[in-house]
Amino acid sequence: MTHLVTEKCIQCKYTDCVQVCPVDCFYEGPNFLAINPDECIDCGVCIPECPIEAIVEEASLEGIERQYWFDINERLSQKWPNITKKKEPLPDADMLKDVHNKRTLLKE
Ligand code: SF4
Ligand code: F3S
Repeated sequence: MTHLVTEKCIQCKYTDCVQVCPVDCFYEGPNFLAINPDECIDCGVCIPECPIEAIVEEASLEGIERQYWFDINERLSQKWPNITKKKEPLPDADMLKDVHNKRTLLKE
């Protein structure tokens, strides 16, 4: 099991999560972060750090949703560079944090 970054992160990227991860397993894309499931030790300390609750336990997702976000995190974490320091959120983060259905905005 792992933890996964999910839809709420898209086009927000607050990055509070990266500062607390003991194994530095966050990877940064243009408008989303991914967790490498092979590196995550499932400690859970990143969950309360995200101000918009974008990080979830894999086990809290069901069926197709679980597979979808697992695949996204696994694939993109292998492609993107590691991030360990907090940075400014994306400019429209506060405006888009409560928007649903942001999947099509994800840039790889
Ligand atoms: Fe890192 Fe722990 Fe979050 Fe996994 S659950 S991404 S190891 S802080
Ligand atoms: Fe994304 Fe939340 Fe981290 S918005 S970058 S998962 S703090």
